[in-house]
Amino acid sequence: MRILITGATSGIGFQLAKDYAKQGHQVIACGRRQQALNELQQQFPEQIQTLAFDISDRAQAVDVLSQQAEIDIAILSAGVCEYLDVSKFDAAMFERVFGVNVFGTMNTVEGLLPVLKKGSKLAIVGSLARLLPFTKAEAYGGSKAAMHYITRALDVDLGEQYGIQVLAISPGFVKTPMTDANDFEMPMRVSVEFASETIRKGIDKGKRDICFPRTFSALLKLMSLLPQGAQVALSRRMARNQQG
Ligand SMILES: NC(=O)c1ccc[n+]([C@@H]2O[C@H](COP(=O)([O-])OP(=O)(O)OC[C@H]3O[C@@H](n4cnc5c(N)ncnc54)[C@H](OP(=O)(O)O)[C@@H]3O)[C@@H](O)[C@H]2O)c1
Repeated sequence: MRILITGATSGIGFQLAKDYAKQGHQVIACGRRQQALNELQQQFPEQIQTLAFDISDRAQAVDVLSQQAEIDIAILSAGVCEYLDVSKFDAAMFERVFGVNVFGTMNTVEGLLPVLKKGSKLAIVGSLARLLPFTKAEAYGGSKAAMHYITRALDVDLGEQYGIQVLAISPGFVKTPMTDANDFEMPMRVSVEFASETIRKGIDKGKRDICFPRTFSALLKLMSLLPQGAQVALSRRMARNQQG
């Protein structure tokens, strides 16, 4: 199969690229850092091709992606995380985070549509952060909540018109450079190998809602059913515990 992965220079996307290549698939690995892409390609010269572009640059993303040959699976893992300090409220930070996680992902979808065919799968990496109002996560969680809605609506429309299946991937904490930068406790954080295996199995089965790890996901889903006041109280308590 031909599998295109964004965010393939690091973390979840990097592991997915290596694992699919090991299985003998043709992988088109995307990211901005050419050096990291070259190193990945050198590990699997027969399996991996690379594409260096910035997903937040619409013209570049659409141009590069729409010229590809047909793709069986596209996994959109490129993303960024920044946390908000409300005492220094910074609207530009929302632009940066939404610019990559939402608008950059949509640029990628626009570029990919001509090269996805009937039966192709488009898997978009969101986050379980979409489920609760976590402290400092206004921009990151907001971008992932928006992406989850967009992913589900795209599943309705792209499935109907083109036969493309759209899958939502919602990880909990995964050990990657993104979470290595966090200075708070991350409950039930899983390895990137586990994340890759769970995502690949979910995509194989055509699961529309790939959430992991299971217990963490079930807990957050239950908490998201509580009244809003209880969710806020819980989130504040977690924030206080993080501060020690
Ligand atoms: N790690 C977790 O616990 C966790 C949990 C839930 C959801 N997620 C989501 O999973 C995805 C992958 O996260 P990760 O932990 O693997 O992060 P990571 O290690 O920081 O990797 C992020 C990837 O995104 C790419 N990227 C960022 N901005 C880009 C841009 N403007 N254009 C093109 N590529 C860009 C980076 O490539 P370059 O630097 O080469 O551009 C890198 O390959 C993200 O969408 C993240 O929100 C992660």
